[in-house]
Amino acid sequence: MQLFLDTANVDYVKEISSWGVLDGVTTNPSLVAKEGKDFKQTVLAMCEYVPNVSAQVTAEDTDGMIKQGEEYAEWHKNIVVKVPMTTEGLKALTHFKKKKIRTNTTLIFSVAQAILAAKAGATIISPFIGRLDDQGEDGMRLIEDIMDVWTQYGFETQVLVASTRHPRHIVDAARLGAHICTIPYDVFKKLPNHTLTDVGLKKFMEDWRKVTS
Ligand code: G3P
Repeated sequence: MQLFLDTANVDYVKEISSWGVLDGVTTNPSLVAKEGKDFKQTVLAMCEYVPNVSAQVTAEDTDGMIKQGEEYAEWHKNIVVKVPMTTEGLKALTHFKKKKIRTNTTLIFSVAQAILAAKAGATIISPFIGRLDDQGEDGMRLIEDIMDVWTQYGFETQVLVASTRHPRHIVDAARLGAHICTIPYDVFKKLPNHTLTDVGLKKFMEDWRKVTS
């Protein structure tokens, strides 16, 4: 399973990539706006740390998406063009597939949308599970349904579990065989921790000091 960081903060990418477990980064216009830094410089800085950086187009028509996406793809080979799940987006995906430009289809909330994006040639699809949970639906059930369909038809499109809110989301996504999980910084920081690890290490060190001091 690949682990991505969901952020537009380059320092966070630098820190987590130093652990040796980070496969990519997903950005979106809201995350970029939150950091308030130049978009191109941010994306290019992240490309120095990881081989996959999703950069989202902001045009809403196919021609505009194609223009932006082709420009992004020229910035760096590690950039994956993020396209919203709309009919205009589907047409752009088909174009990018022909041009061998990698894509990530964002804002997927149903199996039907997932199938359409895969058929249009998306490299990655991003179902948003936390936002479904937020409105009382079962986000992980969507991942289960998508993975079932993927098994039936062998789609090559990778399933990226997005809008994760806590470590359990990452574990459940892994159990379902999702290819990628994108994780906010505060959730990523929780993943290495366990109270029993801290207690166990403290005891090891206390015992070691008894025989060495
Ligand atoms: O990358 C997009 C997605 O992960 C957004 O998450 O927390 O805004 O629902 P959230």
